[in-house]
Amino acid sequence: MNASVTPIGKRRRSTNIANQEFTIAVSDCRFAAVENRDYVVLDDMLRLWRRNNIELSLTGALLLCDGAFVHLLEGDSSDVERMFSRVRADPRHENVRLLERRPLVRRRFANWPLAYVGPSRWVSRALHGHDLAEISAENADEAGYLIDLILSFVGDDPGEATALSLSA
Ligand SMILES: Cc1cc2nc3c(=O)[nH]c(=O)nc-3n(C[C@H](O)[C@H](O)[C@H](O)COP(=O)(O)O)c2cc1C
Repeated sequence: MNASVTPIGKRRRSTNIANQEFTIAVSDCRFAAVENRDYVVLDDMLRLWRRNNIELSLTGALLLCDGAFVHLLEGDSSDVERMFSRVRADPRHENVRLLERRPLVRRRFANWPLAYVGPSRWVSRALHGHDLAEISAENADEAGYLIDLILSFVGDDPGEATALSLSA
């Protein structure tokens, strides 16, 4: 994957934090391309999803490991809601559990249309004791851990993390 993601700061972005929120959800992956480690397909999808998020000034992150997704979205409430409804209905995953939905204080992935952390033994190790298959809507306390974990892998620089994501 190349790292030619236009900096999000150069795009239309609502400055009214009052109307912004974030969601974080966990789901079971039902995506054959991923299970078969077809990174070309995954790469194309990430490119499309990033483009969509850029259009909507959404930022966020996707983690995929041990057969589960963690998906985080930040942006205008109505856009986050609409995108989350779309994602929730996506047949490439199931058992979608919303861990947290809250007004946004500040974007944690401000430079990321959609950061990506892929399967690796390092991610699995970092998830030890946080079994994604077992996390439910009652485990909102896991949200902070998962956000910090993703940030620890991707950092603030989309170029660096984009290269890292698909080679893991
Ligand atoms: C776990 C997961 C996360 C997703 N995240 C996004 C996302 O951040 N942005 C996006 O445009 N699509 C995302 N998608 C894909 C959407 O569900 C949908 O397929 C895509 O937005 C195209 O929508 P459309 O077919 O209605 O045009 C995600 C799908 C899954 C399974």
